[in-house]
Amino acid sequence: MQLTKEEQAMLDGAHGRAARKGMEILAALGSIYGAERMIKVTSVQISGVSYDNLGEAGLKFLTGMAEGGGKAKVLTTLNPAGMDIQNWQYLGIPAEFARNQERVLQAFEKMGAVTTCTCTPYLAGNLPNFGDHIAWAESSAVCYANSIIGARTNREGGPSALAASVTGRTPMYGLHLDTNRVPNLAVEIKTEINGTFEFGALGKAVGEMSEKFGPKIVPYIRGIGQASLEELKSLCASLATYGGAALFHIPGITPEGDKHQAPGRRIEVQRSHIEEAIESLNSEQDLEADFISLGCPHLSIDEIKRIAQLLEGRQVVKEFWITTSRPVKQIADRLGYSKIIEESGAKFATDTCCVVAPIKGRFRALATDSAKACYYASAKNGFKTSLLPFEEVVLRATR
Ligand code: F3S
Repeated sequence: MQLTKEEQAMLDGAHGRAARKGMEILAALGSIYGAERMIKVTSVQISGVSYDNLGEAGLKFLTGMAEGGGKAKVLTTLNPAGMDIQNWQYLGIPAEFARNQERVLQAFEKMGAVTTCTCTPYLAGNLPNFGDHIAWAESSAVCYANSIIGARTNREGGPSALAASVTGRTPMYGLHLDTNRVPNLAVEIKTEINGTFEFGALGKAVGEMSEKFGPKIVPYIRGIGQASLEELKSLCASLATYGGAALFHIPGITPEGDKHQAPGRRIEVQRSHIEEAIESLNSEQDLEADFISLGCPHLSIDEIKRIAQLLEGRQVVKEFWITTSRPVKQIADRLGYSKIIEESGAKFATDTCCVVAPIKGRFRALATDSAKACYYASAKNGFKTSLLPFEEVVLRATR
C-alpha cells in the first residue's frame, strides 16, 4: 500500500503514539481489503461509546489513545452513550455505570471529539457534502450518509473510526470507489409504503429477501414515490440491521439514483411481505408493553413536535423514552415541545437510546415504531416487542 510521506511519518511514530496506532490499524485494514492508498476524510462518527458495549477493555484502549496524544484531525462526533449525560439518575441508570460512562466521554473529550452523542449526526451538526470521503461507524448513519447524502464511507468499527479521526485518513477501498457503488439488486415495490414503521418493515423484508444473494448488496429500489427524512432514516436503520446494506439507490429520491440502470437480478415486494415483516416483530401478543420508546434512529425536531401534539393534555402511564440528540432537544426546549412532553410524564433520554442503555431485566416488552429497535430489544435485552405506527406508539404510553 502506497503511503504519502506524512502517512509514513505517522506510521513511524513521528506524530505520537496514538497517530502511530491509528495508522497501524488503517494500514492493516487497507492491506486486508486491497486498498492502494489512503484518502483524506472530512468527517468521522465513532460508535462503541456506551460503556455497556465497551467495558473496561474498550475504555483502556480509548484512554491509551487519549494519553498517547490522540487528537481529532477532522470533525468527529459520537454515537449514543449508555445514558443521558445530564439526567441519568432520572432514567434509573446506576451510579457506578454513570461514573464509567463519564470516563469514556472524558477520554473522547480529551481527543477533541464533539461529545454530541447521537446516531443521527447529520441532524446535529455533522453533515458532510455529496461526494465527501468520510469514516462513519454506525450502521444506520453509514447507510444514510452513503444513500441519502451521497457521501462515501465504509461501515467502520469503533477503533477504525477513531483511527481515521486521529490521522484524518481512511484506506481507499469499498464504498469509497465508484465500482462498488453500482447497484446489484433491483427491488420492485408493488405496494404503497407509509410511515416510519412501514419503512422499517420494508427494510426488514428487503434485507431478508436479499440474504440469498450474499453480502455487499446495493439495492436499486423502485416504486417509492416519495419519502420523508424520517421514513428514509428508518429504512436505512432497518436495511442495515436486517440486510447489512450500507448503500441503496432510489431513482428520483437519492442523489446517485438517477445515474444508474436497474440491475438484472430482481426481487419484488408485495403488501404481504410488509405485513409478514410487521407481524414477525409483534411478539408482544398477550404481554402488555411496559416500556415505550421512540427515537431509533434519534428523533428529528419534526417527530418531537408530533409527539408533543399527541401528548398535549394527556398523561402517560408507562415508562416512555423519547430519544434524541442534545442539539435537537435544545431546539425542542426553545419551541416549548419539551415542556409539554415532560408534563405528560414522558421522559427525554437524550444522548442515549433504548438499545445502548443498560436496561436488561428492567422491562418485559417494548412498543416502538422502529424495526431496528425491535431487533436489538429482543437480541440484546430479551424483551418482547411490538412494532406499531408512530402515533399508536405514543397513545400506547397513555393507556
Ligand atoms: Fe441509534 Fe440506538 Fe437505534 S444508536 S439507530 S437509536 S439502536
